Amino acid sequence: MYHNRCLAFLGVGLLAVSVKATSCNATTPCPASAPCCSDFGFCGKDDFCLGGCNPLASHALDSCKPAPLCQDATHTFADNSRILSNATFFDGNASEYDWVVDSGNIMNTNSSGGELALLLTEENRGTRISSTRYVHYGTITATMKVSKWAGVVTAFITMSGIKDEIDWEFPGATNTEAQSNIFWQGEIPTGKNDGGVHGDLKDTFANYHDYTIDWQPETLTFKIDGQTVRTVKKSDRNSDGISKYPNTPSRVQMSLWPAGINSSAAGTVEWAGGMIDWNSADYKAAGHYYALVKSVTIKCSDPTKPAADMTSYVYGANQTTNTPSIAFSNSSTLLNGAAGFGPAAANIHVSLVVAAVVGLLGLVQFV
Ligand SMILES: *[C@@H]1O[C@H](CO)[C@@H](O)[C@H](O)[C@H]1NC(C)=O
Ligand SMILES: *[C@@H]1O[C@H](CO)[C@@H](O)[C@H](O)[C@H]1NC(C)=O
Ligand SMILES: *[C@@H]1O[C@H](CO)[C@@H](O)[C@H](O)[C@H]1NC(C)=O
Ligand SMILES: *[C@@H]1O[C@H](CO)[C@@H](O)[C@H](O)[C@H]1NC(C)=O
Ligand SMILES: *[C@@H]1O[C@H](CO)[C@@H](O)[C@H](O)[C@H]1NC(C)=O
Ligand SMILES: *[C@@H]1O[C@H](CO)[C@@H](O)[C@H](O)[C@H]1NC(C)=O
Ligand SMILES: *[C@@H]1O[C@H](CO)[C@@H](O)[C@H](O)[C@H]1NC(C)=O
Repeated sequence: MYHNRCLAFLGVGLLAVSVKATSCNATTPCPASAPCCSDFGFCGKDDFCLGGCNPLASHALDSCKPAPLCQDATHTFADNSRILSNATFFDGNASEYDWVVDSGNIMNTNSSGGELALLLTEENRGTRISSTRYVHYGTITATMKVSKWAGVVTAFITMSGIKDEIDWEFPGATNTEAQSNIFWQGEIPTGKNDGGVHGDLKDTFANYHDYTIDWQPETLTFKIDGQTVRTVKKSDRNSDGISKYPNTPSRVQMSLWPAGINSSAAGTVEWAGGMIDWNSADYKAAGHYYALVKSVTIKCSDPTKPAADMTSYVYGANQTTNTPSIAFSNSSTLLNGAAGFGPAAANIHVSLVVAAVVGLLGLVQFV
């Protein structure tokens, strides 16, 4: 079986980073002048400090804005009013929007009660949306019809600021299986073959299926249509004397991304079922490739119940080796007391060159 190591789509369209942006990681954190290490690994302020901000690569543990607290919800898509179409303009108010579009384009098909369509075009280079709230353990079920075209990957994942990640992935034209994956701080622990392939599904393009990530403190269960297809125990994840089990607050992300393109590694293209055909009849007729999301249900399982006045999660010092402690906080999750969309956007100088390079680096990591 093919062992893929495919870090989920980071988004290419919206890599709005300053030309002078410095990159950041845990060994080289951000300076005080641009304290926040963004989702995409660049230092900045304002929206760099919101969703996806990496506390361990930022100037201080509290440089990132507190991460909005989990809330039980069933998100449906009768319209897109709860989705902010450009994440750059998010101000941190998770009561105002449930989702932000990090890159690409969405549509509402408005059939069978409303469906969110994630679009892929040759120009937009894929679409990703992220939940505005985080989940710190919980049961998340997405009811989806995935794409069916060679080279096109549909994904439904959880992703933390420090890249703990739990994936459902649907590569290419294979419409009878789903794949599961787990990363701890961006890595697959040595000796763990993490790619699960779960087959025998009835046409995942034509039919809605429920894909569940049941992420609990001691056990992670992947389910399809309510049936358990894979169980991973925290105790099975010890490696190098460290528990390498996803344990940090994570956003829910849905994406459709182009793996079958020239800039992808050969193994990625093969995994995704080949190169994307931008001249297919389907693409020509619709003007895009797509995947459909009917609903996303979130049931929070915080290990301790937050007091009623808590709004967010914050990182603290390591609890155990290489495991940051996570605490509830009542601090605001909003940028500068809410109002300003202007300053956040005005500080950003888009560099297409930087964006393109980041796109190549960030898209896929493969061994
Ligand atoms: C961390 O970032 C610094 C500065 O960009 C870079 O030199 C270094 O190679 C990076 N380290 C890792 C592990 O990526
Ligand atoms: C979808 O259709 C319903 C009626 O079936 C309508 O109320 C709603 O506004 C439509 N939404 C969009 C985005 O067109
Ligand atoms: C956040 O959004 C909600 C819903 O739109 C709104 O009622 C509230 O005033 C906003 N909070 C702030 C601080 O802007
Ligand atoms: C979001 O807005 C920023 C700033 O105006 C812009 O550079 C970017 O292209 C927009 N992204 C999308 C996906 O429209
Ligand atoms: C991508 O690769 C194909 C096949 O090798 C080639 O025909 C095509 O010109 C390449 N496209 C770009 C944009 O490099
Ligand atoms: C805390 O954990 C992080 C990774 O999560 C690690 O990089 C760091 O070295 C740890 N710090 C200590 C003091 O153990
Ligand atoms: C957070 O709680 C503390 C202690 O109860 C209180 O003093 C403070 O005003 C609260 N902060 C916010 C933003 O509600």
